[in-house]
Amino acid sequence: MKQEWLLKDEADTQRLGRELAKALQPGDVVALTGDLGTGKTALTKAVAAGLGVTDMITSPTFTIVCEYHSGRLPLYHFDVYRVSDPDELFEIGFEEYVFGRGVCLIEWADLVEELLPAQTIRVTLSYGAEPQERVIGIQWPGNRALNIRNLQERG
Ligand SMILES: Nc1ncnc2c1ncn2[C@@H]1O[C@H](COP(=O)(O)OP(=O)(O)O)[C@@H](O)[C@H]1O
Ligand SMILES: [Mg+2]
Repeated sequence: MKQEWLLKDEADTQRLGRELAKALQPGDVVALTGDLGTGKTALTKAVAAGLGVTDMITSPTFTIVCEYHSGRLPLYHFDVYRVSDPDELFEIGFEEYVFGRGVCLIEWADLVEELLPAQTIRVTLSYGAEPQERVIGIQWPGNRALNIRNLQERG
């Protein structure tokens, strides 16, 4: 199932992230792909809020992964931008995270494409025509889908 929305502003991104959080199940892996500034971290923060995470979400750029355990499901937030060798990921226990009972959100996931499980939920973010606009696509591995009130789906 492939879905796409136009996000008119950051509030739309937050709405979508909260709805995505409701749909997430233990073991889900969400690959976030999109240029710098398209909202991968913003979306992650909204998903965290939707899961009920109360900790402050910080950027895992230098640590590769940050864990949050205060929500409905454990959240593992990855930023693999600076990972140059897959071994760096195995060293921090990537497989335990990915095949664990929490949810993984992976920024710059296209850089580790070959390490992603087949059932990965693929989210792509891109800039829209206006400065605050973004276009988001979600490719679900199965028959899941989001139905978001107040947000117009495309296509
Ligand atoms: N519709 C939108 N959705 C998400 N972020 C937006 C939107 N419009 C503007 N922004 C801004 O774009 C930036 C997104 O940054 P960030 O989430 O860190 O992106 P990334 O992690 O993809 O590099 C933030 O400064 C945010 O305020
Ligand atoms: Mg980011």
